[in-house]
Amino acid sequence: MATIGLIGAGHIGSQIARLAVASGYDVVISNSRGPQTLSALVEELGAKAHAGTALEAAKAGDVVVVTIPLKNYRQVPVEPLAGKVVIDTNNYYPQRDGHIPELDDESTTTSELLQAHLPKSKVVKAFNHIYAAELTTHGQPAGSKGRRALVIAGDDPAAKRTVTHLLDQFGFDTVDAGPLKEGWRIQRDTPGYGPRRTAEELRRDLAAAKRYADR
Ligand SMILES: NC(=O)c1ccc[n+]([C@@H]2O[C@H](COP(=O)([O-])OP(=O)(O)OC[C@H]3O[C@@H](n4cnc5c(N)ncnc54)[C@H](OP(=O)(O)O)[C@@H]3O)[C@@H](O)[C@H]2O)c1
Repeated sequence: MATIGLIGAGHIGSQIARLAVASGYDVVISNSRGPQTLSALVEELGAKAHAGTALEAAKAGDVVVVTIPLKNYRQVPVEPLAGKVVIDTNNYYPQRDGHIPELDDESTTTSELLQAHLPKSKVVKAFNHIYAAELTTHGQPAGSKGRRALVIAGDDPAAKRTVTHLLDQFGFDTVDAGPLKEGWRIQRDTPGYGPRRTAEELRRDLAAAKRYADR
């Protein structure tokens, strides 16, 4: 993997771009308003960063991160992402995203929605439960005492290994929550959503998570 594409360059997208460049990757970043609006970030990131359209970021990335308001997920390009690992950082906030009935009734999860939109991609949920600012301040080398862990979920084991390796390079341990359908265990309002946690603590948080309907 040499290039990470970013669809979304806001709080989370810009931070992942910084981590990716610091780890030696090329990045192609994109937003909804067009590449010309990303010149300051590209300048900050340096020679390994380019701005493009979402389509260009999807085509360029060996791995592509979707980090946009969930309500816009159907705008993510489908064909150029076929066969690729797609990292999904998105969360559901009805006040921002509008009501999505299948999330309100908990018959699916946010990352399963993206997977349904991208049927030929390998979607891995990651980075959804850490504040953007902490992405560049909480990372530590592998083996550090108290190293922060982040949750992943996904249906493709090889894709999960790719993302686990990336998280390690970015300074974090990984806790695998299982398939995408288990991603609700780290959604908004669960114990693991937000606070700094080691892998052991995060495993306990995942086990203690409750569905909205069961609270
Ligand atoms: N903020 C956090 O700490 C945090 C933590 C974990 C997870 N998340 C989740 O991660 C996702 C992104 O959050 P954020 O805080 O980074 O949001 P944000 O700061 O509002 O940034 C959203 C980005 O998505 C872009 N965008 C919107 N629609 C697009 C489209 N159709 N194609 C390409 N780019 C598009 C926006 O571009 P324009 O600016 O040009 O419109 C902007 O660059 C959300 O689902 C959020 O819930 C956020």
